[in-house]
Amino acid sequence: MNRDFKKIKPVKIDKNLIQLVGKDWMLITAGELSSYNTMTASWGQMGVLWNLPVAICYIRPQRFTFEFVEKADYYTLSFFENKYRKALNFCGSKSGRDFDKAKETGLSAFETELGNISFAEASLILECKKLYADDIKENKFIQRDLAGKHYPQKDFHRFYIGEICETWIKK
Ligand SMILES: Cc1cc2nc3c(=O)[nH]c(=O)nc-3n(C[C@H](O)[C@H](O)[C@H](O)COP(=O)(O)O)c2cc1C
Repeated sequence: MNRDFKKIKPVKIDKNLIQLVGKDWMLITAGELSSYNTMTASWGQMGVLWNLPVAICYIRPQRFTFEFVEKADYYTLSFFENKYRKALNFCGSKSGRDFDKAKETGLSAFETELGNISFAEASLILECKKLYADDIKENKFIQRDLAGKHYPQKDFHRFYIGEICETWIKK
């Protein structure tokens, strides 16, 4: 593991999670160092399910990252200070099909002890083992207007519930 990080228990994350995910954003990353992809996300949750600490993320099927998360057993969620906003905007508006996102943003990818990919510039990293995945379904919306508003192209997110296996913070 990168020496700049120390391992903590998920319960020790002392940030407001709605701020962290919804306002600060995160990078969802999967693959290996020789072949990985990352994208910005601002929808997700953290909590407890099946007595495990879990993080949930939502990925539309057309994302290049979707292919990597589908293939992988793990994904990482990486959080950054505000000075990396430009990098997160890039990773959230360009596809890894067209750009080397690390090269374009200056983010430094590295491999964790578990073999997952995150970035040296991150301030918080969650390594998540995929437990469960399913697609958002139009006929399951109770508030039906949300389906029309968020999925006019019917590109329903697949969500991944992952066990938070390791939590790292910048020393
Ligand atoms: C702030 C922000 C939040 C985003 N949140 C999500 C999300 O939760 N799920 C998703 O599928 N796309 C989300 N996106 C869009 C992807 O990050 C974007 O389409 C990206 O270019 C996909 O890259 P890829 O094709 O390399 O995977 C978000 C974009 C931004 C800027």
